[in-house]
Amino acid sequence: MALRISARQFLRSARRSYPECHCIRQFSSTVQQAVEPTQPQPPLNERTTHFGFETVAEAQKEQRVAGVFSNIAASYDAMNDFMSLGIHRLWKDHFVRSINPGTTNPTNPQGWKMLDIAGGTGDIAFRLLDHSTLINCNPASKIIVSDINPEMLDEGRKRSLKTSYANSPRLEFLLANAENLSEIPDNSIDLYTVAFGIRNFTNKQKALGEAYRVLKPGGVFACLEFSGVTNPVFNAVYKRWSFGAIPLIGQLVVGDRDSYQYLVESIERFPRQEEFRGMIEKAGFATPGWEDLTGGIAAVHKGVKPLVSDAVEAAARRVEV
Ligand SMILES: C[S@@+](CC[C@H](N)C(=O)[O-])C[C@H]1O[C@@H](n2cnc3c(N)ncnc32)[C@H](O)[C@@H]1O
Repeated sequence: MALRISARQFLRSARRSYPECHCIRQFSSTVQQAVEPTQPQPPLNERTTHFGFETVAEAQKEQRVAGVFSNIAASYDAMNDFMSLGIHRLWKDHFVRSINPGTTNPTNPQGWKMLDIAGGTGDIAFRLLDHSTLINCNPASKIIVSDINPEMLDEGRKRSLKTSYANSPRLEFLLANAENLSEIPDNSIDLYTVAFGIRNFTNKQKALGEAYRVLKPGGVFACLEFSGVTNPVFNAVYKRWSFGAIPLIGQLVVGDRDSYQYLVESIERFPRQEEFRGMIEKAGFATPGWEDLTGGIAAVHKGVKPLVSDAVEAAARRVEV
């Protein structure tokens, strides 16, 4: 299979396709150049958003993102390992450990009701269920894996057949847009997770509002997403890898350069740590801050939906001021 390309072959071909000057173009002036529209731009009166470095009408973005994930669904898990050299597994393990799902206390003697948004192939959901069951000895926790893309959910269903959760009431799949979770009642969820998903949403603030609505007071919002590398030298090396190698790996391994070009551009476009924290707070959550992973390549953001009394107090303070 194509995945058998050796590292040496890959590097040789990378050097051929990406001579030095091309990389420099990509990483110095390029962000600027790449932003310049290469496609017909939407009429000025239409609401627009980013699709990678392109500006597109909001109505188009969902379709284009769907196209990307439909194209890569079958190869998604293998490509994640290849592109991140397996590091995404460490990040996901750490993310789940830091949440410690399935703990019980007098106010929540049952298992947790969890919702993994943009859950794709179930990577986070299976880890959450495993942690709850094996570490916290809580076999009652349940999860809904939700995604807008039926092909990604199908991959998740297929993978679930290899777990003990297959066809059990502990695991459900839901086709839904994170910006409109009308199937999920208000105040019904203990934990909302989203990993490497939110940067693809058209209206991220609206999705955060939905997260707030569905969580119970005291419920936790937890997000793992690519973020901003803080060290400038490391950032230069990382950009070179991501813009130079990732679309090329996409092209060589699965014959799809464009989808992987979108993925790296969407990372660049995603708000940096401080700004994203502000968006979580704007949705109503109390945030303890964030945790950078691997120098900020990724970051974990958390928020807690205030208990009603906290919210009432905060509202009262606002009125007093
Ligand atoms: C990079 S994958 C992440 C999958 C999984 N969470 C993981 O960490 O491996 C991003 C996922 O976001 C989903 N997605 C994109 N836009 C969405 C939206 N508006 N609502 C729900 N899911 C969305 C895609 O279909 C895709 O499955």
